[in-house]
Amino acid sequence: HERQDRRHSKQRLLVVANRLPVSAVRKGEACWQLEVSVGGLVSALLGITEFETRWVGWAGVNVPDEVGRKSLTESLAAKRCIPVFLDEDLVHLYYNGYCNNILWPLFHYLGLPNEDWLATICSFQSQFDAYKKANQMFADVVKEHYQEGDIVWCHDYHLMFLPKCLKEQNSNIKVGWFLHTPFPSSEIHRTMPSRSELLTAVLAADLVGFHTYDYARHFVSACTRILGLEGTPDGVEDQGRLTRVAAFPIGIDSDRFLRAIQLPQVKNYIKEFEERFGGRKVMLGVDRLDMIKGIPQKLLAFEKFLEENPDWHDKVVLLQIAVPTRTDVPEYQKLTCQVHEIVGRINGRFGTLTTVPIHHLDRSLDFHALCALYAITDVALVTSLRDGMNLVSYEFVACQASKKGVLILSEVLISIQAFFILAFAYVTISKSQGSSQEIDALLFEFAGAAQSLGAGAILVNPWNVTEVAASIAYALNIELNDTVVEAQLRTTQIPPVLQTEHACDRYLRSNNRLLILGFNATL
Ligand code: F6P
Repeated sequence: HERQDRRHSKQRLLVVANRLPVSAVRKGEACWQLEVSVGGLVSALLGITEFETRWVGWAGVNVPDEVGRKSLTESLAAKRCIPVFLDEDLVHLYYNGYCNNILWPLFHYLGLPNEDWLATICSFQSQFDAYKKANQMFADVVKEHYQEGDIVWCHDYHLMFLPKCLKEQNSNIKVGWFLHTPFPSSEIHRTMPSRSELLTAVLAADLVGFHTYDYARHFVSACTRILGLEGTPDGVEDQGRLTRVAAFPIGIDSDRFLRAIQLPQVKNYIKEFEERFGGRKVMLGVDRLDMIKGIPQKLLAFEKFLEENPDWHDKVVLLQIAVPTRTDVPEYQKLTCQVHEIVGRINGRFGTLTTVPIHHLDRSLDFHALCALYAITDVALVTSLRDGMNLVSYEFVACQASKKGVLILSEVLISIQAFFILAFAYVTISKSQGSSQEIDALLFEFAGAAQSLGAGAILVNPWNVTEVAASIAYALNIELNDTVVEAQLRTTQIPPVLQTEHACDRYLRSNNRLLILGFNATL
């Protein structure tokens, strides 16, 4: 019976990430309100149904008292979440410090924060020690909940030490590690004081995954150049032990968006927004308020566009949703002030008594309102300076239905998408033994998706304000009708219009199952 039960029950998967998919807000001594967390990692992993999943992560709040810890653990258990409690000082050094002040900017090629680089270097060792300590605490919680046969899937730059900690506890645990940010060129990685320790700790995993082939290649060459290990087509070899390295591009749960835009509450929002912004073209930006998202650069481009196109002043509105993030980190505080200053200046210069050109919100929107906004948008601006992956373009397309909106997309992102074709080849070849039909089919879909997206957006260098301003003018002036779109799709040049019915049909079918199933099947 037991054997039969096991055959029918799903494979258990312990997802370990710094952030849980829900964030807790304290409402009383033993009372908690849980809200869905924001971020690419959470959206990508939502809706895993193929596995019996438990999620281990930092509680996201400081809970010093036992009563609070016990009650929060119980509330989270209902969501299959297991909290790791980290005290405030540790969070400051581990999360604000090492993760977000050192690893994050370096992995996104931004270098160390300019003004306090001396302080950053001086506190490096204490932050790194805190990082290792926090990773060990995650490992201890995993140990408590691990059952034989579980797959443990560690996520992101916060937990590069976790594979090592887990394998030291139990060498039989199957461990995967996946990075949601870029992995930079080895030339950048080798500037890290802890460069070797980080690589060695990650290599303890059985499988290491990245969004793109490029990031995987950077990782392998860092191991070759810094650790002197051998890189093979399958991964990295150290004294006969192979750590497999592969690319697993991420997507969205597109059905969730396609279903949402049919809902009455979304249709109500659409009506409301159309009335509110009626007569004006709607441009949209949805970003976490992070320097990698290029919000100031985007605003400056919009300002230049307004300067050069007075006819458009009362005919267009830019809705910028900027979700606050890492608000305790000084660089993020500075960025918030900078963005507010630019928005204020532009609205002051180009606003009238009744309208302003930019509606800027420092908060996230509820899912239904967001889908409605995507649906009514004429021009979406996704202009990150660097991003592991960016799912906003996918979400925008998913919600456009028959509307023919235009996507202005950062070149950085499109080159990432183009690499999916190579990623497909790489992953398929490297797991030629025992890969399932379904995964291969999904990978094929994704290769098609890259072509569709590349062929359907206006590509810009986000640093080139003049070019982005010109692209905004071009996007707003395009007269869309089916003949134009068909003609553009037939040309060999990159057509500028993202046309949902034609170009994006295939690319929408790439979804988060590619990452989830692909990674775990390979592991
Ligand atoms: O890899 C990027 C990531 O970890 C994603 O989860 C998300 O885009 C973002 O960073 C969330 O950051 P935080 O958990 O620090 O708010």
